[in-house]
Amino acid sequence: MAGEGRPRAAERVSLSAGTHMRGKRILLGVTGGIAAYKSAYLVRELVRAGADVRVVMTEAATEFIAPLTFSALTKQPVGTDLWSRDQATGSAIGTRHIHLATWCDCMLIAPASANTLAKLAHGLSDNLVTVLALACRKPVIVAPTMDADMFLNEATQHNIAVLRERGFGVIPPAEGEHASGLYGPGRLPEVEVIRAFLKKLFDRTAEDLRKVKMLVTAGPTHEPIDPVRYISNRSSGKMGFALALAAAQRGAEVTLVTGPVSLETPRNVKRIDVETAEHMRAAVVKVARQQRVIAMAAAVADYAPALPADRKIKKDGQNGGLELTLKSTPDILGELGRKKRKGTLLVGFALETNDGVSNAKEKLSKKNLDVIVLNAYTAQNPVFGSDRNTVTIIDRKGEEELPSLEKIEVANRILNRIRKLL
Ligand SMILES: Cc1cc2nc3c(=O)[nH]c(=O)nc-3n(C[C@H](O)[C@H](O)[C@H](O)COP(=O)(O)O)c2cc1C
Repeated sequence: MAGEGRPRAAERVSLSAGTHMRGKRILLGVTGGIAAYKSAYLVRELVRAGADVRVVMTEAATEFIAPLTFSALTKQPVGTDLWSRDQATGSAIGTRHIHLATWCDCMLIAPASANTLAKLAHGLSDNLVTVLALACRKPVIVAPTMDADMFLNEATQHNIAVLRERGFGVIPPAEGEHASGLYGPGRLPEVEVIRAFLKKLFDRTAEDLRKVKMLVTAGPTHEPIDPVRYISNRSSGKMGFALALAAAQRGAEVTLVTGPVSLETPRNVKRIDVETAEHMRAAVVKVARQQRVIAMAAAVADYAPALPADRKIKKDGQNGGLELTLKSTPDILGELGRKKRKGTLLVGFALETNDGVSNAKEKLSKKNLDVIVLNAYTAQNPVFGSDRNTVTIIDRKGEEELPSLEKIEVANRILNRIRKLL
């Protein structure tokens, strides 16, 4: 029958690849690993899907695949050397590629060698791939690819955890047999998996909070008893850091005021470290006026020792005990609510063990908040230190109870609500 039978080659291509990457500018960094040849298939598929792809390679990557392959697939020059010079003029060719850090919508490093992951985790920048990753303010995604033993090594795992915490996208490697004969994780995932990861990223990073000035507070505070002891709480800071990261990923200009925590600073976030509730108040008040959104996720101590000793309190001479007199700390959220300017959106957090919703609603109105996020503190949802959280988001129009989600997902749901109210 006319019109049926085998489609012509061009039709087959467009059917399989789709156009969901149309116009997306992807900077691909290729590093030295046995899977570098697979990046050629990846580039081909991304180009077919409509993406504009540029490639930079480490020196080691050129041992595995020739730059010519990528330049033929992308029809663009491929950067391999930071130091290369134009023979005629002596000017640096390598630095011509630097603009790609601002040109791209995202940078993908695939395969990402253990060596490059270690460099990125420590901010080293001694080749085109690492220089561009450091300079890039758009999402940077890595696909760790290496022998299973290298992948499972504590150093590599630590470096990946650091990068993830800072907000790098990490595409988990596939499991399978390696060139060495080992079986385990560390293989470059199928092109389809990488493409799906990128698509999800582009769908999510719509930059719907572009240039919105946002202040986030996080972590506990430490209230000194003497120079070596303090009163605090179990807050890890993870919820506030997730909120800062998610907001920055959506284009907001984020300032993060944090109490003492052991977390990496999210990419593109300005961090201010404080120790006590008084310090946090001072830091917040200083920048609050410039903000469109203020989200107070910090677990600020309610009480602090009234008279911290200036020397270490001795164990002896206390007759088996020590009495501390506590004073109330400043109510930062209450103060912000009282002084709130028109156009500022104030978000508070509450943690309740009982009567959560009614208590949170009371806090919302009493403190003049626009949104309150209620942490459900239960044995199943310990809140502190966990990577997951179960919250209810409450504003003046109603409430939305969320299931248990990763904190980054909770953060994005809170931002969706904020976005609607802006
Ligand atoms: C045959 C061969 C295969 C290699 N495969 C990998 C690999 O899959 N993943 C990896 O992290 N390193 C691998 N290496 C080691 C890296 O090439 C080496 O650490 C190099 O310094 C990486 O440099 P780069 O990060 O600048 O690309 C391999 C080395 C050789 C000789």
